[in-house]
Amino acid sequence: MIENPPGAPDERRKRRPVLETATMVAASLFGVASAASTQDPAAPTFSRDVAPILQQSCQVCHNENGIGPMPLVEYEQVRRFAPIVRARVENREMPPWHLDRTIGIQAYKNDLSLTDEQIETIVHWVDAGMPPGDPARTPPPIEFPNGDAWQVEEALGRPPDVVVRSTPYTVLANGQDQWWNPVVEFAGFDEPRWLEATEFKPSFPSGKRVVHHGHALYQKPGQRATSIPLHMYGVGKIGGDIFADDTGMRIEPGPAEIAWSLHYFPIDREVPDDVVEVGLWLYPPGEAPERDVAGEVRFVVDQMQGHPRGVDILIPPHGYQILESVHVVDRPLLIHSFRPHMHMRGTGMSMQAVYPDGRREMLSSVNRYNHNWQMAYYYEDDVQPLLPKGTMLLFHAFMDNTSNNPINPDPDVWVVRGQRGVDEMSHAWVGVTYLEDEEYARLARERAGQGER
Ligand code: HEC
Repeated sequence: MIENPPGAPDERRKRRPVLETATMVAASLFGVASAASTQDPAAPTFSRDVAPILQQSCQVCHNENGIGPMPLVEYEQVRRFAPIVRARVENREMPPWHLDRTIGIQAYKNDLSLTDEQIETIVHWVDAGMPPGDPARTPPPIEFPNGDAWQVEEALGRPPDVVVRSTPYTVLANGQDQWWNPVVEFAGFDEPRWLEATEFKPSFPSGKRVVHHGHALYQKPGQRATSIPLHMYGVGKIGGDIFADDTGMRIEPGPAEIAWSLHYFPIDREVPDDVVEVGLWLYPPGEAPERDVAGEVRFVVDQMQGHPRGVDILIPPHGYQILESVHVVDRPLLIHSFRPHMHMRGTGMSMQAVYPDGRREMLSSVNRYNHNWQMAYYYEDDVQPLLPKGTMLLFHAFMDNTSNNPINPDPDVWVVRGQRGVDEMSHAWVGVTYLEDEEYARLARERAGQGER
């Protein structure tokens, strides 16, 4: 501790700026307003500038019933969290959007990410002392569906035609990952039917916290090899899958089964008898859409196809691994979504197309992957990758087992492939609609006519 020297007056004057700077740093670190800055007339206000941004990009999760840890709706709710809101927004940690914004396709249906100006507005507002503004200017509140509601019902205006349910499973309070794979009978239909939309709904509120990911597969009794992915879900994937116009998932008539694959993760308290539901919205009987969607198809990114080593994940302590795989598209197809899946060492995955004429295009690169967010990126209709037969899909997965990776549970161990979150996995779930040759040719002509891509 340095004692304050008596010091001459001019010396004290010299010290003052340092003190002021320290106060300003404290102000910005802790979101404390200095008297001068609250008078900033150009400062954004909550009601006019900040509330619309929160409505657009935050409240779908940060409402009373949402998956976010706290609501960000009322002024007072936001003010309390202002410093951490500022930090999460400035670092682009919130809203979750882990896509590289500098390369690849940028138009996605579920993009909630903020523009640089919106980030600047929030930062400026916090630094200016969080002025509330005129309450009369606050935009009318958005009505959010009850946490237990079907989101597709909101969009399509009708409840699911069929709901399938997993059997109850009690998630232990503590421990490692838990898996539950019940097979449940499904009466089936008398004629071929097509699905228009599907949604995976963990129970509310506990199920939304313990279900890490889950799949519901439709199959003929006992025939796993021919199963169809009704819905593939991962934590952070919100809403359902609504297929494009005149596109549906074909379900053959006759008895069937739903094979569940549920991956639970404990949350420090027991969750008894958890049940997951999948809602199915059908096209009317006798109505066949033009195109059949295959749903999310798995493209493995951890195998050297044809090489004897096969499963190839092996990450040294404090080391990295990059995995590459190539899949040749044997039928023309349209891609509607991209959802990388890795575990805690995964930090990025990209998907490129190498067209038959040799042209190479980065489609999407998720360069800030985070295992806690199994998000799907849904392409806007007019930029959905349209691939001719013979295109190569080229995937790269990036693994970081060093201590630079903030969610690495243990950089001192070797990491191999495995089911647990602490082991690794690497594949992409790609939403695919296979096309007939004529359909491909028609869409390609349409795109060319629009001067697309
Ligand atoms: C898709 C859902 C979703 C959206 C959209 C979203 N959040 Fe979050 N947010 C979460 C979840 C879940 C968590 C808790 C897990 C975590 O911290 O990543 C969280 C955590 C946070 C935290 C940290 C809370 C704490 O106490 O640690 C802040 C701050 C935050 N969000 C602010 C925002 C803001 C501001 C926006 C909009 C600009 C936003 N979020 C958009 C889901 C979301």
